[in-house]
Amino acid sequence: MTKFNKNDNQIRFDFNNMMADYIGQEQGFKESDLAALNPTVKAAFESVKAQGGEGWQGWLDLPFNQDEIVADILDTAKAVRKGFKTFVVLGIGGSALGPIAVFQALKHLHYNELPYKMRKGPKFYVEDNVDPERMNALLDVIDVKTTMFNVITKSGATSETMSQYLVITDILKKALGADYASHVIATTDKEKGNLIKLAKKEGFKTFYIPSGVGGRFSEMSPVGLLPAAVLGIDIKKMLAGARDMIKKGFKTANPYHNMPLMAATLQYLAMQKGKNISVMMPYADSLKYIADWYCQLWGESLGKSVDKAGKEVYAGHTPVKALGVTDQHSQIQLYTEGPFDKVITLIAVDAFRQEMMIPEGLPEFPDVNFLCGNTMGTLLNTERKATEYALAKKHRLNRTISVPEVNEYTIGKLLMLFMMETAFVGAMLNIDTFNQPGVEEGKNATYAMFGRKGYEAKKAELDSAKAKSEKYIL
Ligand code: PA5
Repeated sequence: MTKFNKNDNQIRFDFNNMMADYIGQEQGFKESDLAALNPTVKAAFESVKAQGGEGWQGWLDLPFNQDEIVADILDTAKAVRKGFKTFVVLGIGGSALGPIAVFQALKHLHYNELPYKMRKGPKFYVEDNVDPERMNALLDVIDVKTTMFNVITKSGATSETMSQYLVITDILKKALGADYASHVIATTDKEKGNLIKLAKKEGFKTFYIPSGVGGRFSEMSPVGLLPAAVLGIDIKKMLAGARDMIKKGFKTANPYHNMPLMAATLQYLAMQKGKNISVMMPYADSLKYIADWYCQLWGESLGKSVDKAGKEVYAGHTPVKALGVTDQHSQIQLYTEGPFDKVITLIAVDAFRQEMMIPEGLPEFPDVNFLCGNTMGTLLNTERKATEYALAKKHRLNRTISVPEVNEYTIGKLLMLFMMETAFVGAMLNIDTFNQPGVEEGKNATYAMFGRKGYEAKKAELDSAKAKSEKYIL
């Protein structure tokens, strides 16, 4: 095995195709546009840096302060790997998207279908919905007697997760009696919410989500680290990648020497110029769900009606997920010729962990034969470069993040790059990046519709809403 070398695992950020010299004066940015933002950029840099670890920025501390927790996670993961055939995460939003993204990135793409001797760990499922068919389907393929359930909810109150908890613990109790509690691990806030109370009452093994860490910024906390460790992923390397990105991101307020800050500055400038959509398009199946994770991070953090001063701003930048090359045959037509309203971020992987040779064999068909003797990885990366070229030729803002290889270290770095970019843009917009009042409204309306105690006023508000007209329902 070759020795891991950090220098060979550096992420690169190419923003040539955001610049006027490369995509044209009308759509592209000039260095003077960036320079004009210097005061805003510097203020954002200072504010995110100063608040690291405080308030809702506890996520910036996670790669530095979890030695004891990591040791506990590794012990627990070892026991789970030894004693259980399946590991199921019950959670939603920030309590599910990170574990899904990291699983897809770092494990075999058909992991659950592999025989145990190749998998070498429990099967893995994340239930991030309350679709009854999906829950039934899960129960059809697992045996609860050999399954560990990790219930993850920061608030300890989310209806989806608590309903999953109720369904599963009911089945577990019937199957296992009092021993059922040894099949549940709770990951939640240390003090707030129902899950911590239940965990104490029932005696579940518990991990805590630090108070300053919100759901979408929690992948480096036990939310993401425990599932990853159970899957045999090297979580220390993931944290090392995140740590190195933080160190880089706080070294200087000069965006030309600071990747997350430059990434943020470009997006902020794009927003100022009315480019309201951010497309995340990894060119690797392993990174497919990083785009899903990113959509929540970007959408929920930046979509805000008011700024910190209470002024109505209706900020936001609509995230869209795409997959290269798959979506070249679906969305690229729109991105190349549709409205000038997007920034497209391509994620490139320089070297795939496995290759597939396209064999020789069709010399009589030159239209196909040109592919022969190349690898699929070469084809994929060539198509990415061709797409980048086509986008630039049509004056479309695009940027490429290149990852030398998908591994624990580069994934830690990549996730932290996007979290820092989001925090910097939020600071530039002067909004609260870490709240989600729009999500709370929907949650509260659900409680009211179910007649939950304490939500009587909300129920009255809903009841007094204008009744729908049959005229508009066909
Ligand atoms: O980012 C967030 O804070 C939210 O999207 C939450 O992750 C989501 O609502 C689930 O919340 P909880 O972890 O409290 O169950």
